Amino acid sequence: MTRRLITTLADSTLFLREWLAHPQRTGAVAPSSSKLAAAMASWLPANSDDFVLELGPGTGVVTAALLNRGLRQERLLAIEKNVKLARLLRGRFPDAQILIGDATQLDEVLRQCLEPVESVGAVISSLPLLNFPPAAADLLARKIHAILKPAGRWVQFSYRLGRARLRGTEAFRQISADIVWLNLPPARVNVYQK
Ligand SMILES: C[S@@+](CC[C@H](N)C(=O)[O-])C[C@H]1O[C@@H](n2cnc3c(N)ncnc32)[C@H](O)[C@@H]1O
Repeated sequence: MTRRLITTLADSTLFLREWLAHPQRTGAVAPSSSKLAAAMASWLPANSDDFVLELGPGTGVVTAALLNRGLRQERLLAIEKNVKLARLLRGRFPDAQILIGDATQLDEVLRQCLEPVESVGAVISSLPLLNFPPAAADLLARKIHAILKPAGRWVQFSYRLGRARLRGTEAFRQISADIVWLNLPPARVNVYQK
């Protein structure tokens, strides 16, 4: 219990420091709450052999929720642009593939994987999409569409609580959009199906 509290405090401090250094890219002043992470993780694919691609894992709260929900580390691929955060995650989740790079180049970044990855069952993204230039958001959406299996899901939280569609999601069917109030700030978990 005490150790978990110390880790949470250390993660929050690191996250705040990274936000001060790169506010736009970090996209939040604190890691997501356990409620938000659990809501994201509830959309794991039914097939436990599918790869899951996490985008913007940060200090790993959503990552941990995915693993708690039954995802095996070997099936988890994650792309994080911040080298400091990616190194922390590599220490914490040694059997997952934590890739350092830009999610908008996910096709190229995935070439670093141990074996070729043709498709994934779900994309779980905490990327601060609202801060992305429109062309980058469109490019990311096209690449997510291309890597997802048929009927695969893109789970994307957003601090924008309105129901307007997120940029780039036009090629998907929105199947859920619940708000998690117990987060700072509250967030909407948008789920798009290919
Ligand atoms: C809002 S934080 C979410 C972190 C964590 N998943 C959570 O929920 O607490 C967004 C994360 O996305 C990362 N990020 C931002 N732009 C990125 C990009 N283009 N490619 C990969 N990671 C990016 C940031 O470094 C940061 O760790």
